[in-house]
Amino acid sequence: MIKFNQQHLLITGGTGSYGQVLVKKLLSANTDLKYVTVFSRDEYKQYEMRRKFPTTQYPALQFMIGDIRDQEALLQATKKVDIVIHAAALKQNISGEQFSDEFIKTNVDGTRNLIKVALQNEVKQVLCLSTDKAVYPTTLYGASKLCAEKLLLAANSKQKNTTVFSVLRLGNLFGSRGSISSDLKNRLADETITITDPDMSRFSLTMEESIALTLKVLEVIKGGEIFIPKMDTYRLGDLMIALNKDVEIKSSGPRLTEKTHEIALSSEEARFTFEWENFYVFISPTAGPYLYWQKKGSPVPHDFEMNSFQAPKLSIEVLKRLIDTHI
Ligand SMILES: NC(=O)c1ccc[n+]([C@@H]2O[C@H](COP(=O)([O-])OP(=O)(O)OC[C@H]3O[C@@H](n4cnc5c(N)ncnc54)[C@H](OP(=O)(O)O)[C@@H]3O)[C@@H](O)[C@H]2O)c1
Repeated sequence: MIKFNQQHLLITGGTGSYGQVLVKKLLSANTDLKYVTVFSRDEYKQYEMRRKFPTTQYPALQFMIGDIRDQEALLQATKKVDIVIHAAALKQNISGEQFSDEFIKTNVDGTRNLIKVALQNEVKQVLCLSTDKAVYPTTLYGASKLCAEKLLLAANSKQKNTTVFSVLRLGNLFGSRGSISSDLKNRLADETITITDPDMSRFSLTMEESIALTLKVLEVIKGGEIFIPKMDTYRLGDLMIALNKDVEIKSSGPRLTEKTHEIALSSEEARFTFEWENFYVFISPTAGPYLYWQKKGSPVPHDFEMNSFQAPKLSIEVLKRLIDTHI
């Protein structure tokens, strides 16, 4: 486990699917963190989390109510903070199309606010969670996360900068709130389930895998990287089979903004990318530590593309196990 040396870590969106598992891991692994602060809007989610993790038992855990759209609240929250994991976001593709302003305010403006206050408070590291949907985005959600990625990478070249900003770009987190896997399971009582296309494929990680990747990345970030883990994928049709064979499945064809396959690393990015352990590490050409990663990793072919069509597929048996253990 990474050594934190009594640092203070803040998680924006710490009450979300990812945040809760991260908090659990940090608290149960007895890390040498001085404080873990959860920052989010809804007091009820925080209340429930306090019940799960009583502060009498976990004195390092702190809660702050606030909105990342509110720069002043973030400025207060990041005082004496060393590391920020930026997980707060709006993320449902469909609502993003309808409420695009809201997605911009949270995912783009909220990230910009975080960058400003992190610089002001001399936070050491900011790691932002992003999504494969940010690559060649077709949804407002993906586009807003692309903007967030770009803002963060560019923040590394600001003058007098003592903060490093990097990104961890992930595929679908299995069983997370609102994910396709948990959504389909919830709809099993329906007589018919309509899915868009059984041949559709998605990158997949378990929540625990994403946390292990986060902790690994925190040990090596220099600022200006996008870390893309090597991920398995599943076919939507296989996921349906793994969930329940008896439900009638109808195929509606892809929605306007939905991709049949996802791309987690584009061939344009491949030219600035190194393969390192179980990651591809894209280095921002303007702000990234190119020489550091040139020594550490090996370059990937310039025409390489990491897409969910070609990546290894999870078998139906594995999907069944994941459903049993993660949803
Ligand atoms: N889940 C996935 O499959 C997946 C895949 C790739 C990347 N990601 C990224 O991973 C991150 C976490 O995802 P998740 O699945 O944990 O999402 P989630 O379960 O929907 O949680 C989102 C969190 O953000 C908080 N939040 C939302 N708007 C906020 C605001 N304006 N100010 C402060 N907090 C706010 C929410 O709490 P309140 O509502 O109480 O504020 C909640 O704690 C996101 O950035 C997402 O884009 C997720």
